[in-house]
Amino acid sequence: MPDFTPVLKEDEIKRHISRIAKTISFDYQGRELVLVGVLKGAFLFLADLVRELALEHVKIDFLQASSYGADTRSSENVVLKKDIDVDIRGKDVIVVEDIVDTGLTLTFLIEHLKTFGPNSVKVCAMIDKKERRKAAIQVDYACATVEKGFLVGYGLDYAEDYRNLPAIYHLKL
Ligand code: XMP
Ligand code: MG
Repeated sequence: MPDFTPVLKEDEIKRHISRIAKTISFDYQGRELVLVGVLKGAFLFLADLVRELALEHVKIDFLQASSYGADTRSSENVVLKKDIDVDIRGKDVIVVEDIVDTGLTLTFLIEHLKTFGPNSVKVCAMIDKKERRKAAIQVDYACATVEKGFLVGYGLDYAEDYRNLPAIYHLKL
């Protein structure tokens, strides 16, 4: 039986999202913001975050990437599976991720988004997981920081299961 240890409860996630939404609403007042969610893990986070933003012009789009590493622990080669279709030229973009781990996926996605000529690209992540970081990624807005461990729930999966859990857990197999 897998062992689930709570990391963020439902009400804690809500509080973190409200806090981040206030900051983003302040930072992007009067600007044209495009939130780019990274599928699939960020789907619930983006849905809850966007409803808390007090901004007039917010557009939503999604990207999907997959990584194929030399072993199961690293993700050296990132491949784009789904691209955006909103025109982000001259717009302010925030990439919305579930977890930043090594940072390799985000490095690839940010470089890709920059080819469209946005005004700015920032990063918002539910979880900033520090221990295995390989790329110098700055997470501008984060709900929580964890050192290590495999997390599931609230969009995060283990073999596509547990995305539907309303809270976030550390999974020990
Ligand atoms: P990095 O930053 O290493 O992240 O390029 C690649 C992707 O790996 C996923 N990831 C996780 N997914 N629980 C998950 O369900 C985790 O603890 C976890 N750590 C990394 C995540 O989708 C990220 O985009
Ligand atoms: Mg992801």
